[in-house]
Amino acid sequence: MFHKYTLKDIYNVNLMINMIEQSLILNNVSKIYTMGENKVIALDNINLKINSGELITLLGPSGAGKTTLLNLLGGIDSPTSGEINVFNEVVSNLSPKQLSDYRKKKVGFVFQFFNLLPSLTALENVEIAIETFGKKEEIRKIALKYLEAVGLSDRLDHLPSELSGGQQQRVTIARALAKEEFAEGNLLILMDEPTGNIDETTGDQILELIKKIVADYNATFIVVTHNPLLTEKLQSREIHIRNGKIITDSKK
Ligand SMILES: Nc1ncnc2c1ncn2[C@@H]1O[C@H](COP(=O)(O)OP(=O)(O)O)[C@@H](O)[C@H]1O
Ligand SMILES: [Mg+2]
Repeated sequence: MFHKYTLKDIYNVNLMINMIEQSLILNNVSKIYTMGENKVIALDNINLKINSGELITLLGPSGAGKTTLLNLLGGIDSPTSGEINVFNEVVSNLSPKQLSDYRKKKVGFVFQFFNLLPSLTALENVEIAIETFGKKEEIRKIALKYLEAVGLSDRLDHLPSELSGGQQQRVTIARALAKEEFAEGNLLILMDEPTGNIDETTGDQILELIKKIVADYNATFIVVTHNPLLTEKLQSREIHIRNGKIITDSKK
């Protein structure tokens, strides 16, 4: 028997294969900061594989190297040695311009301090992250869709100062997630202590939201925290680092 496939079928199968095969791979990655005479080994020969669509919590005490690892994955900084491959793109030796492109297209950041532009509304803060990817009307539609996904449809015109901490964090999550529309299944969302600056009840609501978007969207999520309770709440793969080394990985 001979089946007829349309181009769209072939495209969809290709997209699925891509998503299944995609992963983040770190090979012997080290980061050493040199401060005058002193060397700080922030990351010490890290080897790690994370599959597309996974949810990871990266745990460890202060100074363990969590933020350094997140910065390397997010293209904010480059390793001293080793290779980082994110969804089939080697990002460990990109030029500053290439890194900036990589961040813009494939990485969504969510920080402890919300990092929203104070003079822009919630809607505008989401739009600005994706504005170069499409026409104005399309960008607005996408921004509205993701603000709705985080439950903020009734706060679109509020400035960050007119939003609670939890609501501001929802805006940053919408801002990060909206890139999924353009990332062809290759979006990496990096969260550094996303509940670190909000009260526990609101923090739990943010964790519920994270769990929901992990289930609903294709992005890969890495959440940095020093709070072991987060892994339990998120039911995530847990990677522990200490002194720049991976100590335990719940997947192994
Ligand atoms: N820009 C920098 N210059 C020099 N040392 C740094 C820099 N950033 C981080 N470090 C050092 O690298 C180590 C890891 O830091 P970091 O990744 O921020 O840890 P964590 O996020 O787990 O608290 C720490 O000892 C820190 O002091
Ligand atoms: Mg940190």
